[in-house]
Amino acid sequence: MSIPWFTPTHLSATEPGMFTLKTSITFAASHKLWNENWSQSKNFEVYGKCSNPNGHGHNYTVAVKVKGDVNPNTGMVINLDDIKRVLKSHIYERVDHKNLNLDIDFLKGKVPTAEILAFEFWKLLVPHFCNGVELCAVTVMESEKNVVTYKGED
Ligand code: NI
Repeated sequence: MSIPWFTPTHLSATEPGMFTLKTSITFAASHKLWNENWSQSKNFEVYGKCSNPNGHGHNYTVAVKVKGDVNPNTGMVINLDDIKRVLKSHIYERVDHKNLNLDIDFLKGKVPTAEILAFEFWKLLVPHFCNGVELCAVTVMESEKNVVTYKGED
């Protein structure tokens, strides 16, 4: 990639000619951490107050990282609006203001930890990146201190 006028101030090179780009969305949802196969006391032992029967809420952030070459005509790896559109239709509209234990088809029978969310979101998002733009990582933040990233399989 060689664009004389292009100064990559907000992009970082991972390998020659490649750039990574991150963007994110936020949504609000409730959940409880609960394994149906365990007793209440076992759930409390493992998940603590996160297993409270009536659940609790988070303001989640979902960040995606993609990599690719810069299109010399646009100066971009991908239009951020295109990523946001995918995040909105495949994540936000399905989970915002929902109960993650009860309302979400792709989480049925699963414990909605940040790890499981990152993995399930990856599976939903990965088919929508193509034309030289590759999904590198999906990060789920329940809070600033609780951050999980899934990077797919090599
Ligand atoms: Ni929680």
